[in-house]
Amino acid sequence: MRRLLIAGNWKMNCGPYDAAELLEGLIEKKSEIDENVDVLVCPPFVSIGMAVKYLYDTDIQVGAQNLHFEENGAYTGEISGSMLAESGCNYVIVGHSERRQYFGETDKTVNKRVHKALEHKLAPIVCVGESLEQRKSDKHFGLVKNQITAALHEVSEKDILDVVIAYEPIWAIGTGETASPEQAQEMHEHIRSVLTELYDEDSAEQINILYGGSMKPGNANELLGQKDVDGGLIGGASLDAESFSEIITIAEDLA
Ligand code: PGA
Repeated sequence: MRRLLIAGNWKMNCGPYDAAELLEGLIEKKSEIDENVDVLVCPPFVSIGMAVKYLYDTDIQVGAQNLHFEENGAYTGEISGSMLAESGCNYVIVGHSERRQYFGETDKTVNKRVHKALEHKLAPIVCVGESLEQRKSDKHFGLVKNQITAALHEVSEKDILDVVIAYEPIWAIGTGETASPEQAQEMHEHIRSVLTELYDEDSAEQINILYGGSMKPGNANELLGQKDVDGGLIGGASLDAESFSEIITIAEDLA
């Protein structure tokens, strides 16, 4: 009953011109997408308008990589949820490890952003995941549980169904190293059990849990084939129309 979601996180790549070129390539390769698969691209803020324009009559949706937790006001350099919704976004990535690591994002601000996203009907893609050190010292399950519990604080039983979780082990992001399908499945199962504890089994079964961390055409089939892996949050490989469309095709074959 869960549909696979293939999401591209472009990070700080592709201004409007490069975005147009990448999207043209993607549309050429994937003019139609299987109805059982959702596809999303998350460009930098300045390229969202271009993406919405290019993807207007396609099945590909547009999301953002962050949002501020206030509605508007004196927050120089920030972008609000209402601005993103007005610009045509349906999703927003929240609490990516790069934001936690370089921009002081905490579990508390992640939670505030989740609420703001939901308020504006943007589906938050909440990122969680451990460092190599945390995994080596066997803290990964506890850490991910804490991150999820904090991120979803006071999210209602109704709203939780619009939330997407992305498990992104930090040691696998942009490193070329990937969690093995077994490691991914094990953590995704754990995340679903945490969601069951926080909500109920029925809700937990409906929530999409994406894997992120060096997903590419060569490993997507095995990863997406795991029972609790419901899609991918893809960085590097989403910047190449060929690789990203190949991953979409793999998801379509599995759906
Ligand atoms: P990667 O990035 O696919 O380049 O590892 C994933 C992410 O950080 O979302």
